[in-house]
Amino acid sequence: MTAVAALQFHSVFKNFPDRRGGRLEVLQNITFDVLDREVVAVLGPSGCGKSTLLHIAAGLSAPDRGSISLFGNAPGNGNDWHAVRYMFQDDRLLPWRSALANVELALERRPLGHAERRKRATNALERVGLAGFLHALPNELSGGMRSRVTLARSFVTQPRLLLMDEPFSRLDSDTRAAMHALFLELREETGAAVVIVTHDAGEAAKLSGKIIRMSRRPANIIATSAL
Ligand SMILES: Nc1ncnc2c1ncn2[C@@H]1O[C@H](COP(=O)(O)OP(=O)(O)OP(=O)(O)O)[C@@H](O)[C@H]1O
Ligand SMILES: [Mg+2]
Repeated sequence: MTAVAALQFHSVFKNFPDRRGGRLEVLQNITFDVLDREVVAVLGPSGCGKSTLLHIAAGLSAPDRGSISLFGNAPGNGNDWHAVRYMFQDDRLLPWRSALANVELALERRPLGHAERRKRATNALERVGLAGFLHALPNELSGGMRSRVTLARSFVTQPRLLLMDEPFSRLDSDTRAAMHALFLELREETGAAVVIVTHDAGEAAKLSGKIIRMSRRPANIIATSAL
């Protein structure tokens, strides 16, 4: 029996209206699979449509043509959309909530009591080395620490599929290396399938098992390499 893919894009096209009444062609005939537990990196030049591709994968935007499926289901069918976690290109931490309260938010729609939510969120922040900063507000944290909070928030829900949009690109090289190690540990523990968008070929090679290279816009896939 073949395993069901975590995510499948099948001949996906996406355009946006441009300001002159025309259409901006962004994605063109994008087809790929992410197998269950597989880590796939998406590399491509700025503006080619990588974030657009993740928005579609997260069900936040629909393809104009083509289709996608998640664990074998079309968007809106089946319960597996709850198993998806999206780490946006900006960190989207709520500035008025502490690190702990930001991580707890990810668990808000789970059938868990307050004490259990607090316990899991605390553990997740301890796991990323922020035990001493549970009650700090985002603006009291460094960029690297905020990045740790977002990683804790992503993994605390134990997603089956994690979509990450350039999660480490704004970090200095030492902090980035520490975050890579943490990511690899958490990924290994949870077995989540991951799509990670990056500009950095070295990062893609380090973190993923397969690299998808996209062309300039309108983007298609120019190469897929297994590592
Ligand atoms: N909602 C939208 N409406 C109109 N145009 C959009 C919209 N979202 C994205 N675009 C356009 O689609 C193109 C691709 O954008 P996208 O954000 O997917 O690129 P990207 O590959 O993620 O770039 P970067 O590496 O800089 O983050 C850009 O030209 C952008 O202006
Ligand atoms: Mg982007």
